[in-house]
This record gives sequence, structure tokens and C-alpha cells, in this order.
Amino acid sequence: MTFFFTKKIRNFAIIAHIDHGKSTLADRFLELTNLKKRNKQVERILDSLSLEQKKGITIKLNAVQLYYPPENPTPYIFNLIDTPGHVDFMYEVSRSLVACEGVLLLVDATKGIQAQSLAYYQIAKNLNLKILPVINKIELPSAQLTTTKNQLIELLSCQESDIALISAKTGKNVELLLKKIIDEIPAPLETEKKELKILVFDLLYNRYHGVIVYIRILEGELKNKQKIKLASNQKTYQVDRLGVKIPEEILKDKLITGEIGWFTANIRDMKEIKVGEIIIDATSLSLPVANYQVLKPNIYSNLYPTNTAEFNEFKKALEELQLQDSTLILSPIDSNILGPGLRGGFLGLLHLEVIQGRLKEEHDLDLIITPPTINYLLTLTNGEKTELANPTKMPPWSTIKSIEELFISLIVITPQEYVGKIMELCQTKRGIYQSQEWKTNNWYQIVYQLPFAEFIYDFHDRLKSLSHGYASFEYEFIGYQPSRIVKVDILLNNQLVEDLSFLIHQTFAYERAKKLCESLKETLNPQNFAIPIQACIGGKIIARETLPALRKNVTGKCYGGDITRKRKLWEKQREGKKKMQKIGKVTISGNLLRNILGTKK
Ligand code: GTP
Repeated sequence: MTFFFTKKIRNFAIIAHIDHGKSTLADRFLELTNLKKRNKQVERILDSLSLEQKKGITIKLNAVQLYYPPENPTPYIFNLIDTPGHVDFMYEVSRSLVACEGVLLLVDATKGIQAQSLAYYQIAKNLNLKILPVINKIELPSAQLTTTKNQLIELLSCQESDIALISAKTGKNVELLLKKIIDEIPAPLETEKKELKILVFDLLYNRYHGVIVYIRILEGELKNKQKIKLASNQKTYQVDRLGVKIPEEILKDKLITGEIGWFTANIRDMKEIKVGEIIIDATSLSLPVANYQVLKPNIYSNLYPTNTAEFNEFKKALEELQLQDSTLILSPIDSNILGPGLRGGFLGLLHLEVIQGRLKEEHDLDLIITPPTINYLLTLTNGEKTELANPTKMPPWSTIKSIEELFISLIVITPQEYVGKIMELCQTKRGIYQSQEWKTNNWYQIVYQLPFAEFIYDFHDRLKSLSHGYASFEYEFIGYQPSRIVKVDILLNNQLVEDLSFLIHQTFAYERAKKLCESLKETLNPQNFAIPIQACIGGKIIARETLPALRKNVTGKCYGGDITRKRKLWEKQREGKKKMQKIGKVTISGNLLRNILGTKK
């Protein structure tokens, strides 16, 4: 009975570049299967977080079980895993693919293959998964069918007839694709092994039930109330609920070999369990290798509530988000201007944006966010190595022997006409040229090694604007390389503003410091006295602006031409300003600093 059941299972994911139509296709699949039975329609059902819907991107994985044909008493069972569509979440993509036998490589007919499709394709290929090429949006007049087909034929060494042509929007050929999945994606391997072995491919926090663990049963069966053991830390738990999603959660008594589902076991801390780890029966003596990766933050920003009085609420909200997202790292900070805040570590810029959006949406909290910084590796003169992510924690220069910064290997896929400009951009970002390769038709692949700090500064925006949105990119971290890094401090009226300090490569220090001084001058409100705005490295000033004093007409009440009286008043005003400047604290309101800091996300 179990073998018969396993033969009817198809586990697959849709891999695609952002916006190529993955979620729309998933919605159509749902309509042809589970929802058809219930006579229902969906609107973006897989993207369950509302922020995702707004930004149109999938962030959290979701696994949905579909039954086809829906009216059949013993239908085929599709387990569709929706993958996140952004580089910040690449590790999650790779884990979810481990749980599958095949993938649909979905390509937008108007855009052709883009960088992310290539990166995902590579992971799927390395995992030996069956790859079904699918071209989407075929109904659009701007669809470039021949070009896109040729790209896929070349990439996969497949036949033209292997490629499914669909419109996820209109539903054209989507049912044929379901049949193709049955025919071409293999069922999970049947195994005689009875011993339980489960792969964890995603985690979600639930306030009532604790961590919801998304799993693929590799071997054996998982039953409700069974005692299980995590390979990573040997901790044991008792399953209290298990089931599948259709997309609502439904409870089951057991999950069998090859099935994809979820369970809860009153696991209260996300840090207890890891994506990628193996779970076994609590009584088992075997110790499988837990093939998981502990994710480390790649960027850091200081976060403050716009209104300091809201700090406690802000802290509570972020801690709640942290419970649901073990990759978010927080530590307390105290700024001399913005008051108490939290320093956050994030996987990437999108991750930071998602957290910011959720605080706004779910807790109605506005934030001040300092420009993201990255980790630097310091070797001290005493031989000790230490990581530095916060410029304010920089040890004295005299104790630092060398500084290394994080580099990425960056792949850009672009139409030929932009190759020159993109190489120029990489070059100005201190990129190290690796290779340039003609891919298919008019498309080129350029590979550079790039400092991550330069990449996060404005690379994405500049690449998009110079290629009119056609170029796409993908990157992976390749480690640290020695670099001439300096720390730039900003002084307002001779007082250090810690939140504005930043680490930067020596060659860009002057240009960025000058820009920041200028933008401070534009944004700050004039006071009764002139304010020097200075950028310095060590004790040396490298850029300076002056915010002129607010002019007050002290002689307004002197009618007539008594110039000596006027002079006296002007003199008094000058003296007063000098004195105020000496003792005057420049107060920058949250909103002002937000204007300055919020410009770069
Ligand atoms: P991420 O979640 O960001 O990875 O995006 P996605 O790949 O899930 O893409 P999504 O389904 O959100 O589709 C992106 C846009 O393309 C949406 O505006 C869809 O309505 C549109 N779209 C998807 N499929 C089709 C199609 O077949 N034809 C047309 N014309 N538009 C489509």
C-alpha cells in the first residue's frame, strides 16, 4: 500500500528569476487541483506574507500538497515547494531543492534566461534533479519565443519538443504541464528501510505551537506522538501535530517515505533546530551527518525607533520577529544622538528591507536605519584575529596589523550592448576581472570578484539603470582579501556622531566623506550659530562644510541711523554666538538624521 502511494508522489519546485511568474503558476496549479474540487479561486495563495504580496516577491518557502486529478479517489500527489526568489535566501533555495526529485525551470518569454535562473539551474543540476524547461508569458506580444527556446536548448542540451510553452496568467497549457510532471519527474525512491530519517528544509515560528518544521521523509514513517531526536544537538522531542498543507494545514496520523509535510513538537526556540538537518527516531543509535549550514549575517545596520519613547515597543517587536527568523541577529546599542537602539545583522539588503517593512506593517513602527556595513577581518599586532562589523568598535590603529574585507564572486548576465558599461562599473567598484563568456544569442556572462561593501553601496541601482533593467546578477561569497580600509568619523560642531562613522577603502574615503558632509549641510536646520561639519580620518580632517548661522535681525528695533548702537548690538550678538558654539549641543532630530541615513538602504 505504501509503495503504491509513494509511486504516485511527485516532489518538485519551480525555479525562476524574480518576476518570471513562479507564484502565478503555483496559483494556477492550485486552481486545477485542490481548489477545483472546492470550486474556489486563488489570489497569490503561496505568497502568504502580505509584504511579499506588496513587493511581489516570495520570501518564505511554502510546501503545498496538490491532488490531481482532483476528483480521482487515488490521485497523483504533487508536493510543490515554492522557493524564495532572491540571492539573500540562496541557502534556503538549495535546501528546498534537496527535498525534491525535479524542478520546473520557468523562464519569462519576454526576458529570457536571467542570472538567477542560471544559479538555481546549477544547484538543481548538481543535485541530479530532473529539470523540465518551461517558457512562461507566451501570450504577450513582446514574447521572444525563438530566442528563449534557443537559450534553453543550449543550456540544457534538450530538444525543442521538451520545452513546455505556457501562460500562467491565462492558464494556457498549464494542465498539460501537470501531466508532463507526472510523466517526467520521477517518484521518490522506494526503500525497504524502516528506520526513520527526515530532512528539515524550512522552519516557521508559530506563537501557539512553537516551531513548525517543514520536512521531507527520506526513509521510514513519522507518526503522531512519536519521539524524535535532532542530529545536530541530540535533543529529543515528542511530535504533537503533523500534517500537510493544501494550502491550509491539515492534520494527519503519519507521513510516509517520500512525503513532504510539517510537524510541531513544542520546540520553542528557533535556534534549537536547523534548516538542512536530519531528524531520527529518539531510540535510534545511528548518527546521521547533519548537513546544515549556520547562516551568518552579511550586513549590519543600527536600528532606532523614530520616536525614542517607542523604544520598548520597538524592542519587543524586533524580538518577536527574531523568534520567527533565526537569521536575524540583534544586540543593544546606545547612540549619543538617537538614544537606545538595536544593531541588527541581516542576510542581505532585502532581508533588512523585509524586517523594516514588517515592523511598519505589523507594528506600525517607523525606523531610522544607518547605512549597512559589513564584517571586516582584523589581524592585531599581537597576532589575534577578530571580526569587526561596527565601526564604533574599531580598536586603536596602533594595535591593528592588517584589515581584510569580504569579497564576492559576481556573475552578471547581460545583452551584448551593455557589456562595456557594466565592465566599467565593476572596474570603478574595485572589481577584479575574472572572465567574459558569450552565453547564447545576444547574451553575455561577465564574472568579477568584487568587494561586498562596494556591491551593497549602490551596485544594484547602477546596474539596473545603465542596462535599462536588462542585466541581472547573482553572487556568492568567496572570502576575505587584504584591503586598505580606513575609518571615517563625522563631527558636528566638533562632536563625534557615532552613527555616521563608516569604514571604507582609502580610495573612496574623500569622495564619500564629502558627499555625506554636503548632504548633512543640506539637511540640517541652521541654528543660532554656525556649525562646522567635518569628516576626518584619525585626527586629520579630509572634508569640511559649514552650516551658516540663522541670521537674526538684532538691530530691527533701532530706528534711525545710530550706527554705534547697531555696532554694539552686532558685537554682542557675535560674542553670544561664539559662546553658544562653545557650549551649544547640535540637536539633530530623528527625522533629520533619517533623511540623511535613510537615503541608502
Ligand atoms: P517572485 O515571487 O518575486 O520570485 O516572483 P514570481 O516569479 O513569483 O512572479 P509572479 O508570479 O509574482 O509574477 C510576476 C508578474 O508577472 C506578475 O505581475 C504576474 O501577473 C505576471 N505574470 C505571471 N505569469 C504571467 C503570464 O503568463 N503572462 C503575463 N502577461 N503575465 C504574467
